[in-house]
Amino acid sequence: MNLNLSGKTALVCGSSQGLGLASAIELAILGANIILMARDESKLKNALNQLNTEHNQLHSYLVADFNDSKNVQLVIDHYISNGNTIDILINNTGGPAAGRAIDAKAADYLQAFNNHLICNQILTQAVTPGMIQSGYGRIINIISTSVMQPIYGLGVSNTIRAAVANWGKTLSVELGKFGITVNNVLPGFTNTVRADYVVKKKVADSGLSEEKVMEELLSKIPVGRMGSTEEFGSVVAFLCSPAASYVNGVNLPVDGGRTGWL
Ligand SMILES: NC(=O)c1ccc[n+]([C@@H]2O[C@H](COP(=O)([O-])OP(=O)(O)OC[C@H]3O[C@@H](n4cnc5c(N)ncnc54)[C@H](OP(=O)(O)O)[C@@H]3O)[C@@H](O)[C@H]2O)c1
Repeated sequence: MNLNLSGKTALVCGSSQGLGLASAIELAILGANIILMARDESKLKNALNQLNTEHNQLHSYLVADFNDSKNVQLVIDHYISNGNTIDILINNTGGPAAGRAIDAKAADYLQAFNNHLICNQILTQAVTPGMIQSGYGRIINIISTSVMQPIYGLGVSNTIRAAVANWGKTLSVELGKFGITVNNVLPGFTNTVRADYVVKKKVADSGLSEEKVMEELLSKIPVGRMGSTEEFGSVVAFLCSPAASYVNGVNLPVDGGRTGWL
């Protein structure tokens, strides 16, 4: 099985912590050069130190803010115009604020659409010409299992994630013939700052104790526990490898079997 990513360059968004960083760590273990992207430069520098360099990779980072799509466009255009190419793109950023769909404002939906779909589109448009030229490309969209089963209390997120998933599936059809695969990876309940935020919001909204909220969340997961970031990043890295060349256009839950289990 060919898992070798030596000589490949991966742009990993939302990678100063959590699922993005875990994906970058696993991609580096397979030999890829990593370009981290997020807003906080000091966290990016710290994340850079966690990446494997046994294959003599050159890792670096780009600072960009997905709240500002023009900024993302400037940053990626500058990077590509300097003659750089990207073989692997991991589209990812922080999740929208929790809350019911009925209570959200139009501006909340527009902001989330901009952060999650428009920024992905800008990055994808910028990197695909190089992928087409080399005949190798991997695009992974980190989304959520809410694509398959909406989650109560995450109204804006549920809505926008579905748009991103269908965008990804559409691209997989358009780009497959160029050796580019596009896949959506759907995290379940995984141990990160975001998961902590969702638990605390549930505690505040329900009045239940944190222990009770956790017990209820875990009772819905067949393997009976949260996922680790490493378990998630390993799946992303596999899908980016040569070995996964015939996996294209899937929505892959990494959720311990939660989705569809009643
Ligand atoms: N963890 C879970 O259980 C879970 C489950 C389902 C879905 N998800 C989704 O998966 C994605 C990643 O989750 P996570 O748990 O890794 O989240 P996280 O721990 O909150 O990490 C988010 C990452 O995105 C970056 N980021 C946030 N806002 C940004 C912005 N405006 N521009 C650029 N970068 C930004 C953050 O860095 P900076 O702050 O430095 O910019 C950080 O590196 C999120 O969309 C989340 O909602 C997570």
